[in-house]
Amino acid sequence: MDLKAQILERLIKAGDWVRGPQLATELQVTRAGVARAIQQLKATGTTIASHPKLGYRFERTTQLNAALIQAGLATDWQLEVWETLGSTQDRARQLASAAVKDLIAVIANHQTAGYGRRGREFYSPAQTGVYLSIVSPLPVDWTPDAAGFLTGAVAVMVSEEIQRLVPSEKIEIKWVNDLYLHNRKVAGILTEGWQALDTPQPPKVIVGIGINLNPSEWPVEIADRATGITTQTVDRNQLVQRLLKRWPTVLTTYRDERWLTAYRHRQWLIGKQVTLQYGQQLVTGTVQGIGDQYALQVATQTGVKAYGAGEVVKVKLTN
Ligand code: BTN
Repeated sequence: MDLKAQILERLIKAGDWVRGPQLATELQVTRAGVARAIQQLKATGTTIASHPKLGYRFERTTQLNAALIQAGLATDWQLEVWETLGSTQDRARQLASAAVKDLIAVIANHQTAGYGRRGREFYSPAQTGVYLSIVSPLPVDWTPDAAGFLTGAVAVMVSEEIQRLVPSEKIEIKWVNDLYLHNRKVAGILTEGWQALDTPQPPKVIVGIGINLNPSEWPVEIADRATGITTQTVDRNQLVQRLLKRWPTVLTTYRDERWLTAYRHRQWLIGKQVTLQYGQQLVTGTVQGIGDQYALQVATQTGVKAYGAGEVVKVKLTN
């Protein structure tokens, strides 16, 4: 950890004033070194109060910070916060093979190779999003269909947490794993399994959550399909903390009816005419609902059919 990070962690943990000379002694640097690091922190989005007698006190930061996320988490998480990563999913897989704790979270400020379902790129610019991967042991009742239930429950949980940021809007879910606002994608969920081949680690599930809070620009390929959630500043540490706080409950209740009911209420596709790619087949019809196992029910010319997998590649918007 560099000096800036050490000072910040010390101030966050203190939750009160800490004198400069005390910081210098504890961290074995000069007082000028402490003052310099504080200046650098202030210049990069962290507000620290200074007082000639009392020293320094942490106020707030726009940067992701592990100590702030960890504070107030009842469960013991193995937490990593990165400035830049290829993909938090890839890092999560590395950590899964040498896990020291049951629950692991990897968070990045920026991903250079963030990806979603079917290997598609997930746009992950710096400072404006939450890119989080969670590694968990497989729930005891895990069966081959469980990933669908878990993805559904996570989609609802993330929608509910995003909804708090924009209470007057409705965050919707586009089957299977995308979150929508104003007919555009704002977040995505990715559920992947992990199985050790060369370590004694038990199998795990790695769930990726990508949220675009307020990017200022978009790549042309997705500019007409994606949007941010709010123009207000979002406390990303608090948002991540809330998601992690709810995680243990999601893991033990993901098959509960409550998630399915909420998933149905938030379903963006209901009543819309869609084209679904199902294997090599293209199916066109109107979405009737979501089945008991999160299958998409589509009314086609030959009747209503349920699809447990596939990709909605086209949606007809009426206005
Ligand atoms: C999708 O759109 O299909 C799902 C997107 C999931 C993106 C998240 S961001 C954190 C984690 N790291 C990744 O590379 N992907 C997931």
